[in-house]
Amino acid sequence: MNNSSQKRLTATNEFDPDCRDCPRLSDFLDQVLVDYPDYFARPVPSFGSEQPSLLIVGLAPGMHGANRTGRPFTGDQAGVLLYQMLHEFGFATNGESISADDALELTSARITNAVKCLPPQNKPTGAEIRSCNRFLLAEIKARQPKVLLALGRIAHQAVLRSLQLKLKDWPFAHGAEHQLPDGYLLVDSYHCSRYNINTRRLTESMFRDVFKRCKQLVDLAENAELSEAQFS
Ligand code: URA
Repeated sequence: MNNSSQKRLTATNEFDPDCRDCPRLSDFLDQVLVDYPDYFARPVPSFGSEQPSLLIVGLAPGMHGANRTGRPFTGDQAGVLLYQMLHEFGFATNGESISADDALELTSARITNAVKCLPPQNKPTGAEIRSCNRFLLAEIKARQPKVLLALGRIAHQAVLRSLQLKLKDWPFAHGAEHQLPDGYLLVDSYHCSRYNINTRRLTESMFRDVFKRCKQLVDLAENAELSEAQFS
């Protein structure tokens, strides 16, 4: 399947398009669909490369963004800087994600969310994050990214939880790099939400630095793999 395609997906360990495990979220999506009949309003699938070197983990779909279009970080302000950076560092064929059926493709990168359904007030509960965590775990295990980029503390904690690591051993900090067991490298960034951008908690230059580092780490990991293959 083309990575920009939004054909009806079937349930896998990584994603279930018909998941209704969290009653509060499913009921909310049912109501959203009544209020906005042309919205996607279902669990939003990950988007990008099937074999990503970089896996970006967001929080959850935004009401008028991913929840409307069916592609993570697409259709609202939260994705503007993200796709710009992905393009700038060679991970995307275009610097703008417009809709789930545009021609955009991600190269060696994939975007997922810690919670696949739109939560009321953009705030998933702890139980909802834990419930959705099995999908994230399956995705990390299946895709084996070299670098994970967590956008915000909740995404950071979701990654740790999925790998059964203690939160206190790996504290979230913008720009932090965590060498996790099993070779996973976790990089933290403040979330690129409209609020964080408008308040300048996260500036374009801060986000560019994060991407620059992610690109370096991906290249280092890929080169190391290459020389290991050559000399083994
Ligand atoms: N849109 C997403 O898909 N994820 C976020 O975390 C924010 C907006």
